[in-house]
Amino acid sequence: MLARDIVEKIRKEARKYPTQRAAVKSALRYAQEARGWIDDGVIEDVAETLALEPIQVYEIATFYDLFYTRPVGRRQLRVCTNVSCLLRGSDAVLERLRERLGVAHGETTGDGEFSLFEVECLGACGGAPAMMVGERYYENLTPESIDAVLEELGAGHG
Ligand code: FES
Repeated sequence: MLARDIVEKIRKEARKYPTQRAAVKSALRYAQEARGWIDDGVIEDVAETLALEPIQVYEIATFYDLFYTRPVGRRQLRVCTNVSCLLRGSDAVLERLRERLGVAHGETTGDGEFSLFEVECLGACGGAPAMMVGERYYENLTPESIDAVLEELGAGHG
């Protein structure tokens, strides 16, 4: 069940849009911020709040990779593997992350701290290879610089 303040936030946001359906992405973002991921209950609550069918919310939740429809770690490492990043070595960065964290794409570390994802263009091609953690971008990454990033994020030494 979504908390009352989240429901209010969704209703307020929905008033900015011409249709309730247009507010689904914002609603899911608020719900995910509050709950960590989007389970069936969240889908139903968002649908009810916006007077939509659950399938209309589900379609959007499963279309965008920013929405997690299964549990994820406290922090999500989203590494771009699109063309600019790939040409500048994102595969090596990703490999280093896999080694250090011991997880593959879509997996979460045993302590529940980090989930690793390969994603499409993050819109930071000028700083390729790029990764997003929460709202923060890390750019011009190398296998070596990723170690410093992991340290900053508290991942310890692998
Ligand atoms: Fe990686 Fe655009 S291709 S950020």
